Amino acid sequence: MYEPEMNLPAELIGLLRGCQRAAALTGAGVSQESGLPTVREASASDYQPAALWTQYRPEDLATPEAFQRNPKLVWDWYAMRRARLDRVEPNPGHYALAEMARCISHFTLITQNVDGLHARAGSPQVIELHGNLRRVKCFECGKPALQWQEEGESVPRCAECGGLLRPDVVWFGEMLPAKALETAWQAAETCQIFFSIGTSGLVQPAASLAHVAKRRGAVVVEINPQPTPLTPQADFFLQGKSGEILPALVAQM
Ligand code: OAD
Repeated sequence: MYEPEMNLPAELIGLLRGCQRAAALTGAGVSQESGLPTVREASASDYQPAALWTQYRPEDLATPEAFQRNPKLVWDWYAMRRARLDRVEPNPGHYALAEMARCISHFTLITQNVDGLHARAGSPQVIELHGNLRRVKCFECGKPALQWQEEGESVPRCAECGGLLRPDVVWFGEMLPAKALETAWQAAETCQIFFSIGTSGLVQPAASLAHVAKRRGAVVVEINPQPTPLTPQADFFLQGKSGEILPALVAQM
């Protein structure tokens, strides 16, 4: 757990207390303390230590081409990751962000994560730039599936058109959901404080949001145990784990 009296910059605490409009972009790092592997540290087998997955990297499986080549393999990898979600819980960092939304009148939480942990921690509105593992849609017609056979000999099919079902996540090379991206961009352009939390800041367009905010005059706060390409531009770099720093921030603001 964090130390509530953690030594945080007094200037930042002061800015937070007077803040009306804030935005936060989160990445896999905020779920690391819930036991989920981060993207760039993970091999596919980190999601499930079964021999089958050790030969794959996430980028080998999270593409439309991989799904078309071997739908069952890709479907099974996501089904296994969905099953794993039933065994993880939000961590203090997720809960602190839900609390922050209650303290700041206009707070936009934007996530690259597909694990749904922000919503489970009580964040009222989550902008999911890369989709959500728990949602499934048709690969052909795009219609969301309300129910499906999770385990079986073959990949379940769309009730509407008979196409193969797929996870409703953004795969490498795919476009982000337009509405989510527009909302995230607007929040970055209008916020007074922008948090970049638990993300390596390597994947576009999410990685541009902090720079848009900075250009518009926002204070940029980065929370990460490691420096990233954003760190030199951040006004505050809080080096450490989000599950420890975020609760201390909220406790002191
Ligand atoms: P990465 O794995 O690239 O980065 C995770 C970041 O979290 C790293 O900078 C770590 O230092 C940091 N980190 C690790 N533990 C942490 C902790 N306890 N507290 C805070 N930070 C911690 O994951 P993302 O940046 O989220 O996109 O990756 C972004 C996107 O790349 C993913 O959404 C995915 C991938 O392509 C798609 O799938 C479309």
